[in-house]
Amino acid sequence: MDKKRILSGITATGKLTLANYIGAIKNIVNFQDEYESYVFIADLHALTLPIDPKQLNENKKNIYALFIACGIDINKTTLFFQSDVMEHGMMNWLIATNTTIGELSRMTQFKDKSQKIRTSNGMETIPTGLLMYPTLMAGDILLYDADLIPVGADQKQHVELTRNIAQRLNNKFKTDFKIPQPYIPEVGARIMSLSDPTKKMSKSDSNEKSAIYLLDDPEIAYKKILKAVTDSEGNIYLSDTKPGIKNLLSIYSALKNISLLQAEKYFKDKNYGELKTEVGISIKDLLTQIQKKYNEVINKVDEYAKNGAKKAQILANKNLMKLMKALGLKNENK
Ligand code: TYM
Repeated sequence: MDKKRILSGITATGKLTLANYIGAIKNIVNFQDEYESYVFIADLHALTLPIDPKQLNENKKNIYALFIACGIDINKTTLFFQSDVMEHGMMNWLIATNTTIGELSRMTQFKDKSQKIRTSNGMETIPTGLLMYPTLMAGDILLYDADLIPVGADQKQHVELTRNIAQRLNNKFKTDFKIPQPYIPEVGARIMSLSDPTKKMSKSDSNEKSAIYLLDDPEIAYKKILKAVTDSEGNIYLSDTKPGIKNLLSIYSALKNISLLQAEKYFKDKNYGELKTEVGISIKDLLTQIQKKYNEVINKVDEYAKNGAKKAQILANKNLMKLMKALGLKNENK
């Protein structure tokens, strides 16, 4: 039987964080032996909000190298830049013509991001690309006809929309797109900000202290953890009223591959300082290991990415043609 396929991507909007590692990359790495894997840097998605071209170019290369540094093996996983496979742009259009402004404007991420723009600059300044972000993402998934989409909790709604779109296309045009399943990890699906644990850790947060970046100096990362906001109670246990402690326990359990309950038990009789020290050390070790490998591969990104795109394009083109034929844009026999 053919191997099942996973697909995932990371937007090139900023420096990768520990949350991207725990919520997505770590799981993608674990899947690559068992699944046929397609992973890409979503540089087209990065254009949905204004971004400096030089910065974008730097981000995408860093993310490519970091994927490898975190354990992606390019002999097992097809790793590429989204914009190197032109089929993504075309697929986006075909999908956009089969969705409504209603369903796109109801997406949580669109509401959050557009709300911020609207408040400061008014409705007229909301980029069209922001509204179409989910159609581009649905196109990414259907181009590779993926079974499983490993992502953090914040992307679940986008995968659910993709499932609806795949069903819609299959019903309306008799295509046979797979209905993709999100894979959301049990621990670490939503890593929180270190300065405000009620908000998610994000690579686009302007406060550098709120996130651990995978390219942070490991010593600085350690200190960020020591300064992470917790609460004044002093006892370690899992509770939604203690989001800072829950976040540190989540990070610890994800990095040690243990359950949240096991982590809670381990720290039960320890104090906040001990918890922070142990979490900080695990992160310091992880970053040291990642950065060593990163420095070995950063100069090889262009060559690797070219090969990845060539391979990705074969599958992307096949699925694009399938939809183009179904829509009447191409003849069946061509
Ligand atoms: P992006 O770049 O925002 O995030 C990359 C991955 O990291 C996860 N993540 C988190 N996980 C846990 N805690 C957090 N605080 C946290 N923040 C981010 C995200 O859920 C994601 O898995 N739209 C996608 C990129 C994309 C994509 C795709 C993904 C484009 N096309 C097709 C899958 C399939 C995004 O912006 O992820």
